Amino acid sequence: MHAAEYHERTKHHLHGFAAGPGGLDWATQPEAFRDYGDCPQIALPLADQAPAIPFAALAGGVNPAAMPLSIDALGIFLSCSLAISAWKRYGPSRWALRCNPSSGNLHPTEAYLVMPDIPGIPAGLYHYRPQDHRLEQRRSDSTEMSQTLCNDTPAGSLLLGLSSIPWREAWKYGERAWRYCLLDLGHALAALRYAARLCGWQVRVLEQWTDQDVACLLGLDRADEFIPEEPEYPELLCLVTPTERSASIPIGCLAGCPSGLSAALAERPWSGKANRLSAHHSHHWPLIDEAIRATEQVSTRPGDGVANAQPAPLPFRCADSAVTIIQRRRSAQAFDGVTPLSREDFFSILDHCVPRPSVPPWSGRPAPAQVHLILFVHRVEGLASGLYALPRDLAAAPRLRSAMSDNFLWEAVTDAPEHLPLMCLLHADTRQLAARCACHQDIAADSAFCVAMLGDFEQGLATDSRGYRRLMVEAGLIGQTLYLGAEAYDRQGTGIGCFFDDALHELLGLRDRGFQVLYQFTLGKALVDTRIATEPPYPGVHQPTGA
Ligand SMILES: Cc1cc2nc3c(=O)[nH]c(=O)nc-3n(C[C@H](O)[C@H](O)[C@H](O)COP(=O)(O)O)c2cc1C
Repeated sequence: MHAAEYHERTKHHLHGFAAGPGGLDWATQPEAFRDYGDCPQIALPLADQAPAIPFAALAGGVNPAAMPLSIDALGIFLSCSLAISAWKRYGPSRWALRCNPSSGNLHPTEAYLVMPDIPGIPAGLYHYRPQDHRLEQRRSDSTEMSQTLCNDTPAGSLLLGLSSIPWREAWKYGERAWRYCLLDLGHALAALRYAARLCGWQVRVLEQWTDQDVACLLGLDRADEFIPEEPEYPELLCLVTPTERSASIPIGCLAGCPSGLSAALAERPWSGKANRLSAHHSHHWPLIDEAIRATEQVSTRPGDGVANAQPAPLPFRCADSAVTIIQRRRSAQAFDGVTPLSREDFFSILDHCVPRPSVPPWSGRPAPAQVHLILFVHRVEGLASGLYALPRDLAAAPRLRSAMSDNFLWEAVTDAPEHLPLMCLLHADTRQLAARCACHQDIAADSAFCVAMLGDFEQGLATDSRGYRRLMVEAGLIGQTLYLGAEAYDRQGTGIGCFFDDALHELLGLRDRGFQVLYQFTLGKALVDTRIATEPPYPGVHQPTGA
């Protein structure tokens, strides 16, 4: 199987949805949190001591002095990325929201830290528990092994692994679920990169590690410790390192897994077993396992490159601290259908979506960008309603243009910042079109604007089979950038994973499968449901900010 086949087979069509369970079986709803049971646990501090950096500065690329790797710094890093940001209550139902969003709030992404020995945290492998902001120790590592793993990384570094449990999403969404796992992964990576910057750190994906080696390092290949119907797959291994020292990372640690690792790891003391998420599993979706296997191949090219040099992004006009914006992020359930966004605010939100090597969440991303934006502009002051395009890499613009309908205008928006290649394709009221393409969801029409993210399949899937995962993660990174940009202007965003793929392609006049829509996003003034109560994320924490 090829990744493009998975994508094709999981399209929603106007005449029918991708294969799914056909209804929600509440009796088998997966547990909200992963738990390894009987493991030593370490409580992490919350973000009270986080530096008071304005969000505008952080998002603009300011680089604070690196915090030494400590339990306090880890507490800040995780409470501003993957932690719970609020609990919600409505009648008898209570559910957690996190700094990172997730399709259906099902959170398939899990995080693991491979720690060197530091005060309060002995060397080893730890699973992060958002439910109580703790680390649970899966494995204890000897100092010697920890040094081998860290392979001469700069002092103050750690390895961070991300995995997906597709069953969490497949329970509700069936075969399309793995798309959502990958988009969620991109959101999580972006959340980690913003939080890392707060600590003066950088999160760099180690592209050369194979799935097999990451599974071995994170203990995901220890089949006896997992429920067979609920496999957890390795996704990314990252090096978290002080930004100021990231230029001097020795090539050895980027090159892949140290030899002989698996045998050495198996001999270490392990603890805990993965909890069962569902009492039983009425459906199984082998297409997902096939797609994962089909996209394992790692390219032979070196890890991360750098994106093209760009001037700094148009700054956010926002005085709030980065911590406030990060923890306030929420998805809108509905928009007011009235409030516009100013043109300058619109431009600055879009400008932050263009990758720059020194600006989160792009730092450490390979160039060039392979996901481009199509915008349904509904309510932006001083900008005619219509369809717009923002190629995120200028070199791809001619191919994008020739792939799409000849009827589009491709008129440059003259008062956009010079470096932002925003093009008007069509003047029209696109509200109904946007909602129709987004599986008839009103949130696509009632916002200020809605985005369709077009992935460059022609180039993105050409290098290696892993290209599909990279494209989806890139779309997730853009999604998180839009969520935070919305909050900076007292607006809200919502990711849209449910859309009619080919209806969008037809609208754009796409002639072949060279570009495919990966994700949609909508942004505007949210209507808040006041019947839903908001409670603090953890005991003893004051009332959270935001809705
Ligand atoms: C990949 C992805 C796809 C999503 N798709 C939709 C969607 O189609 N419709 C919708 O109303 N919300 C969608 N959402 C929003 C989620 O439902 C929301 O993130 C989740 O309920 C958690 O709420 P929070 O974002 O406020 O933390 C999506 C979110 C993500 C990350």
